[in-house]
Amino acid sequence: MNPEPPTPGRWMTGGIALLALGFFIAIGFWPATRPPPGEPPTAGFLRHHNELKGVLQDWTEMLDALPAAGPRRQGEIMEFSLGFLRQHLLSHEASEERVLYPAVDRLVGTGPRPFTTPLRLEHRIIERWVHLLDERAASSPPDAAGFVRQAYELVGLLRAHFEVEETLLLPILDRKMSRDQFRREVWQKMLSDLE
Ligand SMILES: [Fe+2]
Ligand SMILES: [Fe+2]
Repeated sequence: MNPEPPTPGRWMTGGIALLALGFFIAIGFWPATRPPPGEPPTAGFLRHHNELKGVLQDWTEMLDALPAAGPRRQGEIMEFSLGFLRQHLLSHEASEERVLYPAVDRLVGTGPRPFTTPLRLEHRIIERWVHLLDERAASSPPDAAGFVRQAYELVGLLRAHFEVEETLLLPILDRKMSRDQFRREVWQKMLSDLE
């Protein structure tokens, strides 16, 4: 017998549990004041990124199921999508601009434009596309096909954006900041934004 397909409620619980696990790892099991020995300064940030990427993968599978779902389930999937994007993803991006990006810009030095300008511009695109998803979910009747197309584009952009942050920014922070300095000046401030 085939296993029962996951319901949006179960996906929602799973997604929230993944994020909670990330925060547990980041804050509780490995507290910011006591990072495991040998880890690079930005390890906690990278764990948080990985948790978000895990939820992105779950979200993609929900989007795969959306076109064939009934109207009620479609509504639940769209509601989960916007909840995840607004409560977790956009707050992550906002905290990066408030804390992480300025730290990188200070370390790299001043130029005609801050080093992180392209990534800030990508954040504006991400916000605009989340707004488009909002509009498609709120239209009457909801534009489920348009929602899925826009969401897949956003997933692609987010995966590329995360990869650029990890390969471009984190090595700078790991090279130029001690673990204590990164914890004090960046990571603890981001955790207080994300709690
Ligand atoms: Fe970002
Ligand atoms: Fe990020």
